[in-house]
Amino acid sequence: MRRKLAAGNWKMNGMLADLDQLDRISAACPAPAVDLLICLPATLIHPAAHRTAPYRLMIGAQDCHMAPAGAHTGDLAARQLADAGARAVILGHSERRADHQEDSTTVNAKAQAAMAAGLIAVICLGETLAERDAGTTLDVIGAQLDASVPDAASGASVVIAYEPVWAIGTGRIATTDQIAEVHAFLRARLIDRFGTATGGAIRLLYGGSVKPDNAAQIFAVADVDGALVGGASLTADDFCPIVAALEGSATS
Ligand code: PGA
Repeated sequence: MRRKLAAGNWKMNGMLADLDQLDRISAACPAPAVDLLICLPATLIHPAAHRTAPYRLMIGAQDCHMAPAGAHTGDLAARQLADAGARAVILGHSERRADHQEDSTTVNAKAQAAMAAGLIAVICLGETLAERDAGTTLDVIGAQLDASVPDAASGASVVIAYEPVWAIGTGRIATTDQIAEVHAFLRARLIDRFGTATGGAIRLLYGGSVKPDNAAQIFAVADVDGALVGGASLTADDFCPIVAALEGSATS
């Protein structure tokens, strides 16, 4: 049985003064059937991990370097993020694939580094609008999945987030039929590659404009094990109803 996961991605948002939202999320979202993760800018990881130590809420990062240490000015190694208190790291987010030309081979190497450091690798995949309009969504997603996910992946060490690029930050959400099609495809492909036990244990999140008012319908889709939430993870007021919807889907 896969545990549901509500993951937040603060992106390049948040100051020390905003960490009180994490207290509010912890207090207002008991959700015992759901794992909680907020991926923060690197500057906030250590203070946030310290602050949330009494809570179940996990703190994560948004990228790591593929090397364990070395001459890489401005980068952070997975083991440094773990040392600061991170438990997970988002890898291959479409904003990094676009802004930093990260390809799936790079994402795979970063995921291996994350796993070696004991971090959960939250590996993101998604098609652009042009790819969806061209009818190549499953080809694109399949190729990203194959190349981005390390052979050593397990249900404990890897989470996949399907995030259509055209749905991120746009308020435009994929239909439940579109989400169901891609998640069923991802599940079948994982089982083909890793076998039923591992392929069936890796969690599949949906991401892209998940909000309090659409979360329940997304979580009702088969093989959706949670969400990766951007804008609506910045405040407890928006994030907690999403967590509550996920808790409802886990316990119904
Ligand atoms: P959004 O971002 O919820 O603001 O669309 C999701 C993401 O990029 O992970």
